[in-house]
Formats: sequence, C-alpha cells, structure tokens
Amino acid sequence: MISNRPARIRATLDIPPDKSISHRSFIFNAIASGHTVIERPLESEDVRSTVRCLRALGVEIDWPEGADRAEVKGSGLHGLFESDDVLDCGNSGTTMRLLTGLLAAHPILSVLTGDASLRGRPMARVIGPVRRMGATILGRRGDTLAPLVIKGGNLRGIDFDSPVASAQVKSAMLLAGLYAEGATTVREPLQSRDHTERMLQAMGAPITTGDSGVRVTPATRLEPLSLRVPGDISSAAPWLVLGACHPDAEVHLRGVNTNPTRTGMLDILAAMGAKVELLEERLTGGEPVADIVVRSSQLNPTVVSGGLVPRAIDELPLVALLACFAEGDTVVRDAAELRAKESDRVDAVIHVLGAMGAKITPNDDGFVVHGPCPLRGARVHARGDHRIGMLAGIAGMLAEGSTSVDDDAVGVSYPTFWEDLRRSAEGVPA
Ligand code: S3P
Repeated sequence: MISNRPARIRATLDIPPDKSISHRSFIFNAIASGHTVIERPLESEDVRSTVRCLRALGVEIDWPEGADRAEVKGSGLHGLFESDDVLDCGNSGTTMRLLTGLLAAHPILSVLTGDASLRGRPMARVIGPVRRMGATILGRRGDTLAPLVIKGGNLRGIDFDSPVASAQVKSAMLLAGLYAEGATTVREPLQSRDHTERMLQAMGAPITTGDSGVRVTPATRLEPLSLRVPGDISSAAPWLVLGACHPDAEVHLRGVNTNPTRTGMLDILAAMGAKVELLEERLTGGEPVADIVVRSSQLNPTVVSGGLVPRAIDELPLVALLACFAEGDTVVRDAAELRAKESDRVDAVIHVLGAMGAKITPNDDGFVVHGPCPLRGARVHARGDHRIGMLAGIAGMLAEGSTSVDDDAVGVSYPTFWEDLRRSAEGVPA
C-alpha cells in the first residue's frame, strides 16, 4: 500500500542483476566443458526456474538460497540427462524458449510446462523453426502452446527469417544450431538484445554477426564463462521514471548494463527531455555498464516505433506512465509483442493507469496516451505480471491518495522492489 505521493525522492540504489544475462549464464555454462563461477546472479523466481530445470537435466549447480555467487559444473555439449519429471519453467518465457532450442538438439524426451500465463504464451515461434531443423515437438492447441513435448537430436542447419524481433527465438535457434549439421542463420526484422551472441562468442562458439543475420556452425566444445552479472536496465527503468516525473527527485542508480540493444528507454527519456546523466561508463564481463542519475524533469510527448521498440520492449508500460506527465499525445506503435508478454500489456496498462485517471487509447500494436493526466490513487490488479506490478507501484508514488497493488509478482525479476521503493521515499541509501 502506498499512501500518497512522498514530498521528496532521494535515493541511491544498487540495481539488481540482469535477468537475461543471469538465465544465459546458467544455461550456457551448463553445456560448457568445465567449472564456472557466476557472481551476482539474479535471485528471483524466473532465474530459479531455469536452475531448477537444469538441475533436473543432471547439471550440478551450487547456488544456496540468497547467495550472491553460484557455481556450475558444466556437463559438456552432450552431457544432459533425460529428466524423470516434467520441467517446470514457472512464469519464465526465457527459460521455456531457450530450453526448447537446447533440448531439440538432445536425443532425450523432455516435457516443458509453466504457470497459467506461460501456458498461454505463443510457442509456435520456436516450435516451427526448430521442427524445420529436424526435431520432434508437440504442444497443445495445434502445437502452439505449452506444455511442450520434445524429442530431439539429428538437427540440420537452416536459414531462418524470424517474423518477430525476439531474442528468445534467436537464442533458441542459436543453441540448436550449435548442434546442427551445417550452418544455421537467423535474421530478424529488427535487432533484439544480443547477450546470447556476445556470451556464446566469448565461450568460443563459432558465431558470426553481420548484415545478413547471425550465423552459427556446429561447436565441438564451449569454454566455461565466469562472469559478474551487471545491473538490469529493465529494473533501473522504474526509478528512471519516478525520478523524471516526481517534482522533487534525484535518484542515483549504480551499475546498470547499458548494452545498446537494451537502452531504448534512455533514448525515449532523452527524446522526452528528461534529465538523465550517465557516469563512470565501464565494461563488466564484456558488457557496458554505467551509473545513472535522473532528476525531476519537464517532459514532452514523443513517438516510439520501429527499431526503438525491441530495445525498450519491457519498459514500454513505463513509457505510458512517463507520458502522463507530458503535455500532448505520446504514441507507442509497432509493439504488438506487448500483447504476448506475461500479460497482455496494452490491456494491463490501460487497466492500471486508467483506474488511476490516465487517458489512454489502445491500438492493436500499442497505445496513445493523452497527457497530461493527473493521477489519483486506486486499488489495482497487476495480473500476476511483474512489470505491471512495478508500473503500478511507481504510479502510486506519483499519485494523489493511496494506491494498493494486488498480485504484483515482483519476485519474478525484482524481489526487493517494494523495499527499494520505501527507501526512495525516505532517502535511505542502499
Ligand atoms: C528476453 C527477451 C524479450 C524480453 C524478455 C527477456 C530474453 O522477450 O521481453 O523479458 O532474455 O531473451 P522476446 O525475445 O520474446 O522479445
């Protein structure tokens, strides 16, 4: 429950580790030849889902609850065992889609399932191309939904033009391609996040990137990749919005990953006139990292479309909140993918911010926010979607009157979110 907008926001926060990189560091090191230390993996429900599945496939992972260091004993490229039970991916699309690509290359039977949200999300986008490579995959509703049954092995490389810009699809194909006969090439309509390419290359995988797509040829082994996981820009984004929209705010965010395939939100904030500064730019584990400072800003409306969309896909609900503080119409388009996330995020944004007084018109591929929209507190339901839970929490900090959020699910990616939110209002440093 958030009672009224705090008078001042002063915060210095250590941003939680990146979720995408955490998943990948466990999955890729599980098939490496050797032992790895992962420092600061994200302690969250989604990453725990990945670790649970890998352990069920026989991978030895030492990561006690709450420990900020994990050890993985790689099984080698061909060392996974058939699990004696279904693999439960929880709420995590990254777990299900990446494991689909990996297991499609293994001559074992695997059954992948997840919670109600994940069982409703589109899987044909990975099933189709991986089947074309030669794997047997079945799913519910005409092979489009989980649970999925996979019997893999004997793959051949293909040339694949993905209809969606999705790092999960691309990563599934690259994992399968490591095992396929011949080359596998993936092209996407717009560039999605490139952590998989960076990490697999660092592990010695034969992957090349260029204008004609990402190409992988069969690997004989992967070198283990020990790394320290940088902060997640998607978890920094709620504070960037709070800092920019609140009339008396200064927020310092430490150690944020600024990989250019992920920084669409920084470009959107700049286009809207937000006061955002990047400090101490450096490299951590092959990824660019910076500290970020955001201060109260006068915002103007903007249009978000095209290549910006995949670079800010998980932050677009927060753009709707930013737009409530700008005078004029802010347009988000080319973002039909929003409707295929943990919830239908176009619908969910309108449900949450609409209940708080925002004027938003939905479209098939996005929304238009008619700002400015003064917000008042409300009781809202986040539909079990962590990004919507955080959106509602930040909106509550910017609204008159009290807000409560049901089914916020922040544990999926940011278990200490509510604690950090309280800190930001009290000015307590992390
Ligand atoms: C992710 C890719 C994105 C993103 C998701 C994490 C990843 O999904 O929305 O939160 O780690 O690869 P898509 O690849 O489906 O766009």
